[in-house]
Amino acid sequence: MQIPFEKSRALQQRAKKVLPLGVNSNFRFWGDDITPYVAKAKGGYLWDVDGNRFIDYRMAFGPIILGHSYTEVDAEVHKEIDKGVLFAMTGELEIEVAEKMIAMCPGIDMVRMACSGTEATMHAIRVARAYTGREKIIKFEGMYHGFHDHALWSTYAPTEAYGNPNSPIPIPSSSGIPRKLQELTITLPFNEFEIFEKAIRREGYQVAAVIVEPCMGNCAAILPQPGFLEMIRQKCDEYGMVMILDEVKTGFRIANGGAQEYYNLKPDLATYAKALGNGYPVAAFGGKREIMSIIGHGVAQGGTYTNNKPGIAAAYATLTLLQTQPILDTIARRGERLMSGIKKIFDEAGIPIIFNGYPAMFSYAIGKESITDQRSWNKTDKELYLKIIDELIERGVMPDHDPREPWFLCFSHSENDIDCTLDAMHDAVKAVLK
Ligand SMILES: Cc1ncc(COP(=O)(O)O)c(C=O)c1O
Repeated sequence: MQIPFEKSRALQQRAKKVLPLGVNSNFRFWGDDITPYVAKAKGGYLWDVDGNRFIDYRMAFGPIILGHSYTEVDAEVHKEIDKGVLFAMTGELEIEVAEKMIAMCPGIDMVRMACSGTEATMHAIRVARAYTGREKIIKFEGMYHGFHDHALWSTYAPTEAYGNPNSPIPIPSSSGIPRKLQELTITLPFNEFEIFEKAIRREGYQVAAVIVEPCMGNCAAILPQPGFLEMIRQKCDEYGMVMILDEVKTGFRIANGGAQEYYNLKPDLATYAKALGNGYPVAAFGGKREIMSIIGHGVAQGGTYTNNKPGIAAAYATLTLLQTQPILDTIARRGERLMSGIKKIFDEAGIPIIFNGYPAMFSYAIGKESITDQRSWNKTDKELYLKIIDELIERGVMPDHDPREPWFLCFSHSENDIDCTLDAMHDAVKAVLK
């Protein structure tokens, strides 16, 4: 690091004595002496403890859709917490949040709140198993649905470990995940129509749910090939499997109605977190009345904090703003300008670049071949990608340090921020090629 970084280094040393890796989530550890420690964030900016200011494109891994410390959201939270933070009983505001979600998201008849995306997908999988009376789950390689044991398979492993694409090997992404769960887990490469079809023909009637992110939000935002999500929908109907659309990253970001609106698609269940509360701890899952109605009738779901007031108030304020202002259109316009500016810089530098994702949440990879799944993404030039990111960070622009993580935009990113980012990108690419 060429920028002042002494305070971050010192905090890392101190933190490592009391927190494993010196952080509270493995993804936040970038490495020794390069992991930033944060002082504050406002709007589209983040400041580290050394006083360096960054245009933030991590947006806390996606939740910040309006801007950090957004005045209207924080005001609603302050107003509500004055009346109490947690009752473990039901209040009117959470009913209004559910009503708003149902109005905004096609295909959602009922919802239940949760506190994190991990919880939301865990509950959705439980409900799908209970509804179908089956136990197997299909998930796609490179997709991430949170930290619970039921979906943390074939997420980050080197793709060489996944075996032949026609008969993939489910790889647990951590020690401590019971091996026995492998019997219940089918992992498949994304966007492979024939492989999906064969797997369904083989095992479809034992499968409770197909859980799928609309795009690979945890692997370079790889988009679905036209017809792939629709094929999942159709096979779920044919074989009685529950389609769980994991909208934790896409929900309330790529459209007010998320990927369901964007792709005109109705899953059986969908999961939400992140942009739902502009950074406050709130999540939800919801879907068809027929499926959701089994909750409470022999099907367990709940949690002490599932309607925590800060989260519910933040969701109420965030959804109200999304419903009443052209927020996502504005973000999309700025995102498009950023994407085309980056493409021009790479084209002029003669570096082959492939874009994926949506303007509010996009990724690029360095390579010539198109990428459609984690296996093909693995062949792209991650080393060069990271060198450029390091140069960008030195110049006050901070996407995540992991090439799989998309760039996230928020409503507070201004046209001027986009210009400054493109200037920094121009200089970063030049510095790397020197
Ligand atoms: C698609 C998806 N699902 C689930 C999760 C887990 O959410 P959380 O970190 O809130 O537990 C994430 C987190 O990044 C995600 O991207």
